[in-house]
Amino acid sequence: MYKNFRRLLVIYKGARGPFIVSQTFLAFSVLLNLAIVALNGTLVNDGVQQGNIEVVISTAVWMIGLTLIQTIFALGNSLYAVLFAEGTANFLRVGTYRKIQTLSFGNLDRFRTSDLLVRLTSDINNVKQAVLYGILLLFQAPFMIVMAVAMAIFLLPSLLWLMIVIMVVVSVVLFFLLRGVQQMFVARQQALDGVNNVLQEALAGVRVVKAFVRERFEMQRFAKVSNTWLDAALSPAYRMALFVPSLQLIVYTGTAALYYFGGQGVFGGTTNLGEIVVFSNVLSMVVGPMAMLAFIIPFLESGEASCGRVFEILDEEAEIQDRSTAKPVDVSNIKGRIVFENASFGYRDRAGKTTGLVLEKINLTIEPGQTIGFLGATGSGKSTLVNLIPRFYDVLEGKVTIDGINVCDLPQRQLHQIVGMALQESVLFSGTVRANILFSRPDLDDDEIVAAAQAADADSFVSRIPEQYDAPVSRRGTNFSGGQRQRLAIARALASRPPIVILDDSTSALDMATEARVQEAVQGLMSSSTKLYVAQRISTVLTADKIVLLEHGRQVAVGTHAELIQTSPLYREIYESQLGKLDEQPERIASPLAGQSMGGTA
Ligand SMILES: Nc1ncnc2c1ncn2[C@@H]1O[C@H](COP(=O)(O)OP(=O)(O)OP(=O)(O)O)[C@@H](O)[C@H]1O
Ligand SMILES: [Mg+2]
Repeated sequence: MYKNFRRLLVIYKGARGPFIVSQTFLAFSVLLNLAIVALNGTLVNDGVQQGNIEVVISTAVWMIGLTLIQTIFALGNSLYAVLFAEGTANFLRVGTYRKIQTLSFGNLDRFRTSDLLVRLTSDINNVKQAVLYGILLLFQAPFMIVMAVAMAIFLLPSLLWLMIVIMVVVSVVLFFLLRGVQQMFVARQQALDGVNNVLQEALAGVRVVKAFVRERFEMQRFAKVSNTWLDAALSPAYRMALFVPSLQLIVYTGTAALYYFGGQGVFGGTTNLGEIVVFSNVLSMVVGPMAMLAFIIPFLESGEASCGRVFEILDEEAEIQDRSTAKPVDVSNIKGRIVFENASFGYRDRAGKTTGLVLEKINLTIEPGQTIGFLGATGSGKSTLVNLIPRFYDVLEGKVTIDGINVCDLPQRQLHQIVGMALQESVLFSGTVRANILFSRPDLDDDEIVAAAQAADADSFVSRIPEQYDAPVSRRGTNFSGGQRQRLAIARALASRPPIVILDDSTSALDMATEARVQEAVQGLMSSSTKLYVAQRISTVLTADKIVLLEHGRQVAVGTHAELIQTSPLYREIYESQLGKLDEQPERIASPLAGQSMGGTA
């Protein structure tokens, strides 16, 4: 039972201190509570009934004093319980976040962002709540029940039957009241997940929603999940509303019965009023904890389920990990020779199964300093192919090597220093322009930043902003245009001058003239690096040392522009569809790089 919670208690060592302290405070608090209840007997029997005002006063003073001490213990218990619960939540939050950072592209493909968000926030909150109620009540309640029953036996064994009857009635009422409540709580959590999923998606895509005039649709979609949540939240709430009144009814009826039967004992002289008063207190003492116990079960159940969902992330094994055989290399000695040998790859589905090959038997040799262009229809596998070089995904068959070393045998940290990459989607982070360019190497100086920005043609617009490189970047870089974002992303990839640079469709938002400027500057700054351009526009790769043409994951042609125009009908078709019929403009290639030396060894 509660295997996730037990596991949590084992792995979260920091929990033990607050746990033990809070339970110690708790035990003292319960014992003092019982002592205060017992003093009621002295107050009635020796004080009120004997007409002894001194006993009344001294007992009352004792009761107040003990209550104060008991309050301190109860306070200590609560504070340490909160410390324990918040500490647990923090432990899970930080651990989960850290885990997500270590996950590979493949793992992240299988978790939706909204799903991760829900687990990091509302699931962890559920765990916290369950842990808090658990630590406050789980031990306290049985302890109080046992002590109360023991006291009843000690005080008035003749009326023990009344206590047992009340306990049975309470159990039956609680059973019916709480039956099905747990499912209601689960449904409520699922409804909340639904709300979060829609919210996350709609807020992330709010501009697209506006652009396509889908506001009404989105509002309806949200209203639907929000109403589901409302219904799901109301049904357990209605049921819980019955909780306190029904228990009060039982306690008051029980108290009346106590005075009826106990009163007869007082008249008959077999018992005294003080014992009846204490017994009445003990009666309420036993009902409260029983109710608490029943009440926390749904929270424990939902917390346990949430804890399981958090452990799912913590248990996820990063697909890409450093092998034990991985040997560090001197990054500055890397020349940047890339070889694909019979490399095949396919993405996995949610169940972790490979669905089909997206790349088939790629064989390609790229010499240090060369410029390579990758062309192909959308979905042909260009991004997938270049993503194999920094090992964002591992090949299924074959291998990819850098300077003869299998990328799987390089420590990832070094591999990512060797390969500088501008991903197809240029995401910037909130902060400054400088911080974004320095993302991979915080130790670079201003000259290196400016050189990278100049090569990416970002300096031209950054230097026009009053704050220049300290200009603020908003979340995802939305205060920059698409082309400016791309150029900052290129600057980020170039900043540390890696031996291999990959620009995945990174100039697609630039006009031809800007693209030409960027390419020329990149060739200059990164002359000795191996440069890989993925492109949709043929003009981007026209003068590359080698153009690789992909179709449905296969490399259908490799060569220079001049070679491919002769040998590949597909290449010729793409060329003519983008730049016009060859026989109508044979004299010059309309390339942004025409006339430039591409550098490197062809
Ligand atoms: N993360 C992923 N999970 C599953 N399938 C994917 C994933 N990324 C890409 N694919 C699939 O792999 C194939 C190749 O995609 P890839 O992104 O490599 O194409 P591309 O040539 O870069 O296209 P584009 O020019 O549009 O960027 C596509 O069919 C795509 O649906
Ligand atoms: Mg792509």
